[in-house]
Amino acid sequence: MTAVTSTAPEPTATNPEVVYDVKDVTLRFGGVTSLNKVSLQMHRGEILAVIGPNGAGKTSLFNSLTGVYTPQEGSIMLAARKGDELTSILHDPRFYGARKSTATHLINRHGVARTFQNIRLFPALTALENIKVGVETRQKSGPVSAMLGMPWQRREERESTERAYELLRFVGLTARANDLAGALAYGEQRRLEIARALGTEPGVILLDEPAAGTNPAEKRELAELIRRINVEDNVSVLLIEHDMKLVMSIAHRLVVLNFGEKIAEGKPADIQRNPAVIAAYLGTTNDEPEAATTAQPEPNTTDLDSGPAAEGDES
Ligand SMILES: Nc1ncnc2c1ncn2[C@@H]1O[C@H](COP(=O)(O)OP(=O)(O)OP(=O)(O)O)[C@@H](O)[C@H]1O
Ligand SMILES: [Mg+2]
Repeated sequence: MTAVTSTAPEPTATNPEVVYDVKDVTLRFGGVTSLNKVSLQMHRGEILAVIGPNGAGKTSLFNSLTGVYTPQEGSIMLAARKGDELTSILHDPRFYGARKSTATHLINRHGVARTFQNIRLFPALTALENIKVGVETRQKSGPVSAMLGMPWQRREERESTERAYELLRFVGLTARANDLAGALAYGEQRRLEIARALGTEPGVILLDEPAAGTNPAEKRELAELIRRINVEDNVSVLLIEHDMKLVMSIAHRLVVLNFGEKIAEGKPADIQRNPAVIAAYLGTTNDEPEAATTAQPEPNTTDLDSGPAAEGDES
């Protein structure tokens, strides 16, 4: 097995702050246990990847961390932005919506942004407008002041447009500002979704298979973009990705799930040598190599990338 070390610069803090502290989280759907006593810590400034075969529980973990699902057992503590206090998203009223269950928009307001395994843009809005939707979640004006054209509303509108253009530039989509999101190429839509998420000024961003369906050149651009988000924007990144070459080249650490359980955790080079991880990948029935990844071999290849890398069902 080829040993690959992460080329991502190490997070600077030697005694890292915790962004997410997940302890013994169990999530069940009827008879299906999607997460079984999963514990992990995410540190400020790191790129932490979550890998595992299809159905391992990766998206379920993201949905639990963002309040889409409420696990039956365990605890999830969050301090998304620097200086925030670690707070339980399952027990603190700051994270409750009207129905007294954890609310995704409140978690977002507290500094967590995400993208989805199946892209969720507004296809009939332009690229610029999609990003403004993200930016405006941070602003004060409501629909009434917008209708009345109050002065602060006009100022916020101008600021939101400026910030949206900045983000378009950051993800390399300036030329597409006025094109409908639905008309963009697949890789462009993935980057636009990231820009919209960044518009909410998060301390942590969760990316669910950002490279799915993209070509090798787009994957390289995406790896670079994720690094820039991490280093230039100081955003901690939690990354689900099947493309091992991409994961191993940018992640500081990895957590491996299989059948809802955490089976390994560590640095890229250690994970690639871990017998339990190799067995989990080889032991699945879906062993088709990922065509897009193997089409252009690059130096950072690993045996794991011929595992069950077929992109998962969109969910
Ligand atoms: N809303 C739900 N209702 C019922 N079962 C669910 C639900 N969400 C997830 N599951 C089940 O939980 C398990 C884990 O699914 P999950 O989507 O988290 O896997 P994953 O690791 O993201 O897989 P993939 O790589 O294919 O995206 C699967 O058995 C799935 O069928
Ligand atoms: Mg998934």
